[in-house]
Amino acid sequence: MNEATVRPMITADQIAQRVRELGEQISKDYGDRRLVLICVLKGSFVFTADLARSITAPLRVEFLGVRSYGEGTQSSGIVQITQDLSRSIEGEDILIVEDIVDTGLTIAHLLDLLRTRKPASLKVCALLHKPSRTRVEVPIHYLGFTIEDKFVVGYGLDWAERYRNVPFIGVVEAS
Ligand code: IMP
Repeated sequence: MNEATVRPMITADQIAQRVRELGEQISKDYGDRRLVLICVLKGSFVFTADLARSITAPLRVEFLGVRSYGEGTQSSGIVQITQDLSRSIEGEDILIVEDIVDTGLTIAHLLDLLRTRKPASLKVCALLHKPSRTRVEVPIHYLGFTIEDKFVVGYGLDWAERYRNVPFIGVVEAS
């Protein structure tokens, strides 16, 4: 199977346009306040890189490594931190940058964890949301696209560590 078998769902141009809009909204909302983007690894690395460059508010970027235990394409909701933040976030304005909110279990866990570190504010920016899969309601303050219940890859999202470099978001076709 190669990248040619990924059927586009959201094109690179559509992503770029939406990420610009999200960046404008975030810039407007935060103004001159210093912002900390928390990039949830690995899937959000591409989104975070583009989003950070479309935000004009002063910011720093932190990386949080997360592994969601589960079989194949199913998240179990048991979240293991594989790489922690490099600095304290106490008193800071935090924006979690997530590739996709599927069941909501990962974000719910991260919100609980980060709240214990006493940030001044804690918000969520997700590129994708699959509402039909929700198991726990979580706030998504900034959302790129709502999608149907399909397993998607590309733009940082993987399937067994593959396809993260595909520049658009699509569905792997059975060959
Ligand atoms: P949740 O805990 O079920 O919301 O799942 C969140 C994590 O599962 C995401 O950060 C992704 O790493 C992974 N995930 C969920 N759906 C997809 C998908 O369609 N493609 C790739 N990864 C996904």
